[in-house]
Amino acid sequence: MNPSEVLVKTVDISKSFSGVTVLNKINIEILQGEILGIIGENGAGKSTFIKILNGTYTPSEGLVFFAGNPVHIRDTGVAKRLGINTIPQEFNLISHLNVYENIFLGKELVKGNHLLDKQQMKEKTSELLRELNTDIPPDAKIQELSVAQKQMVEIAKAVAYDSRLLIMDEPTTVLTQHEIDVLFRLMQRLKERGVTIIYISHKLREVKRICDRVMILRDGQFISLDPTDSLDEQEMARRMVGRELNQIFPPKVIPRSTPVLQVRNLSVTGLLSDISFDLHEGEILGFSGLIGAGRTELAEALIGIRPLSSGQIMISGRPQTISSPIDAVNNGIAYLSEDRQGTGVLTNFDVASNITLVSLDKYCKPLLDGKKEKARTEEYIEAFNIRTPSTKTRLEYLSGGNQQKVSLAKSLDPQPIIFIIDEPTRGIDVNAKKEVYYFINNLVKTGISCILISSEMEEILGLCNRVVVMREGRITGILEADKISEAEIMFHATGLKEGA
Ligand SMILES: Nc1ncnc2c1ncn2[C@@H]1O[C@H](COP(=O)(O)OP(=O)(O)OP(=O)(O)O)[C@@H](O)[C@H]1O
Ligand SMILES: [Mg+2]
Repeated sequence: MNPSEVLVKTVDISKSFSGVTVLNKINIEILQGEILGIIGENGAGKSTFIKILNGTYTPSEGLVFFAGNPVHIRDTGVAKRLGINTIPQEFNLISHLNVYENIFLGKELVKGNHLLDKQQMKEKTSELLRELNTDIPPDAKIQELSVAQKQMVEIAKAVAYDSRLLIMDEPTTVLTQHEIDVLFRLMQRLKERGVTIIYISHKLREVKRICDRVMILRDGQFISLDPTDSLDEQEMARRMVGRELNQIFPPKVIPRSTPVLQVRNLSVTGLLSDISFDLHEGEILGFSGLIGAGRTELAEALIGIRPLSSGQIMISGRPQTISSPIDAVNNGIAYLSEDRQGTGVLTNFDVASNITLVSLDKYCKPLLDGKKEKARTEEYIEAFNIRTPSTKTRLEYLSGGNQQKVSLAKSLDPQPIIFIIDEPTRGIDVNAKKEVYYFINNLVKTGISCILISSEMEEILGLCNRVVVMREGRITGILEADKISEAEIMFHATGLKEGA
């Protein structure tokens, strides 16, 4: 191999936090113009590895060579000067600033007399966003954007720099198929220009599709590096977990016919119109649709965050007014938010406090019963295999996927009768996905009813008894049994077909 083709070489890179090794002697040569996939379970060390390359962390041991020279990437500024840019796993945008201000943060364009050249920054931003096929206005405030839109801004921000190495840490977790296709085309164009891309994802199908080679990590150890062509998804999963993984989806449970939740003609001005459906006892009711279809908005209306302009909600046959999340909890409705960082968990609180946050009453008599809280937390750590040093570890020290598991445990703890789950497996590894699926299945066996909002088609097909498809704030179809198929869902989601 011609050594000039190697852009990054790591020699025995290791990282420990307070004496615990989370990355152990990683040696790899990353080639110019390749797309390198990195996969591994939650907590395997993927983000830590790339944070060493982008100057967020310094390695405890080892050397990094960049374009043939040893480099000391002591902070993100050094990385940027080398042309290393990152789309981070957790959003890094300033919510009260607008889109173009975020994109040009730290590299503002100025006119001759030191005045900010807002016009040019806006135009450049529009250009970048057009390349990504999105219609986000450059002066929209970040806080007004959906999670998917924020992700597109994060991508635009990284692409705005001239990169030699572009690192993407789970860029597609919040995107649907259309946006993923757009992103992949952009990645191909960058690759043709000679940009090297590191791509981290739990979606093995995508890794298979876009990556040239794939590196697998397990427990901070290097497991393998192979051309993607030589591995199938099954083999990737097996190496990540270290054993065979069969039967990801549990057998479906037949729901009862008793309706638990009845929604009639529900509307929210400008967002939802005339939504009617039933949720039965022990049912998993899927909600499918493209981004912007209104699924999260519907969940928010059901838990009292968005006031109804008309319509009725009945729980166990009785009309209820739910005007706040507290009303929702009191009516037995729990909600797992899709926006883990925004509303899901508090990263400066510890694991136990997060899990018991909404159901704190149960742990007070009247003072907080720390023992009970700890015991309960330990049960969840065991059930979901949450990797954390202790129940008292602050969430910011957990890997992204493990934070997601804490968020899931938190929304389950009030023991709801109706559980609304918005993208439950976003960012979690294959094995944890399987655990979550069995967990949901065990819940419905005990008579709990679930609304499952998911952009992962496999999940909808594998778990749900019926599927509601939404488009532009309306229901366009409700599919049952053998009518549930990817094609049928897409027909309704894209508006090619209407009617239940
Ligand atoms: N700043 C930190 N302090 C202490 N421990 C940390 C810190 N950052 C990461 N860790 C630990 O290092 C391990 C590896 O974390 P990392 O974020 O690299 O995992 P990951 O492979 O990216 O996982 P995920 O798929 O969940 O994002 C985890 O056990 C995590 O708790
Ligand atoms: Mg990570």
